[in-house]
Amino acid sequence: MKALDGRLAVVTGGTRGIGRGIVDRFVTEGAHVVVTARTAASGEEIAKAYPLAVTYVAADAARPAELEAVVQAVKALGRPVDVVVANAGGGGSTLVASSTEAEFDAVIAANVKSAFFTVQALLPYMRDGGSIVLIGSIAGSNGGVGAVVYNAAKAAVRSLARSFTAELAPRGIRANVVSPGPTQTAGFDAFIGDDKARLDGVIAAMPVGRVSQPSDVAAAVLFMASDQSRQIAGAELVIDGGMSQI
Ligand SMILES: NC(=O)c1ccc[n+]([C@@H]2O[C@H](COP(=O)([O-])OP(=O)(O)OC[C@H]3O[C@@H](n4cnc5c(N)ncnc54)[C@H](OP(=O)(O)O)[C@@H]3O)[C@@H](O)[C@H]2O)c1
Repeated sequence: MKALDGRLAVVTGGTRGIGRGIVDRFVTEGAHVVVTARTAASGEEIAKAYPLAVTYVAADAARPAELEAVVQAVKALGRPVDVVVANAGGGGSTLVASSTEAEFDAVIAANVKSAFFTVQALLPYMRDGGSIVLIGSIAGSNGGVGAVVYNAAKAAVRSLARSFTAELAPRGIRANVVSPGPTQTAGFDAFIGDDKARLDGVIAAMPVGRVSQPSDVAAAVLFMASDQSRQIAGAELVIDGGMSQI
């Protein structure tokens, strides 16, 4: 018996990076996964890779009107959603001294608005007892320079898990946050570039001595999504190789 046999999951931002790692793991564990992203080409690639196990929907999670397409895809599958993973997010650099209103709004929308309205749109189609997993960041618990709005946005995502859990308790729906530290994605590779000293600096700050892979984060998301975590609600699981603990 696989952990997600017969389960229906929705993963936003599931075509690349951490989201793709989550989709790969969920499919391996028996789930059917509705995957969203904004770029049609990458959606076609994942739908081709998993013709039976993935339904791709082009939708910007930060635009609530576009989430209607996700709802329609779920309704067409004809069964309740067991797991919602609000993974879409990210953010460019921001400084308190210079960030514009537009930059502020974009980062809040990408992370907070997207998670909130993804959950709101899918709630009527979730089964009682289902699981919501929000992707936060260790940035939500520190004051990393150059990311003031992203840091605040991920702190808000952490808060959403508490409020969702409290409000949805009558339906037995749990919400938890999985918060990665540095994880090897295209964005991370672009940040490192050819700068070996920068990479060495990141690794030196991680007690386990390696940068996380998307599959490391996916293992934690699987745990929070599955019945193995049935007694965990409103909590945060940090996947950062110990970086934020020293
Ligand atoms: N990588 C890290 O080191 C790290 C660390 C801590 C937390 N995180 C968090 O982990 C999550 C995933 O990050 P990542 O590094 O894996 O990102 P990524 O490699 O840039 O991949 C992002 C994925 O989300 C999709 N996406 C982005 N914005 C979207 C939106 N508004 N609506 C729908 N899909 C969207 C992208 O596809 P399209 O571009 O086609 O839409 C892509 O599939 C984010 O919430 C991020 O804040 C990442």
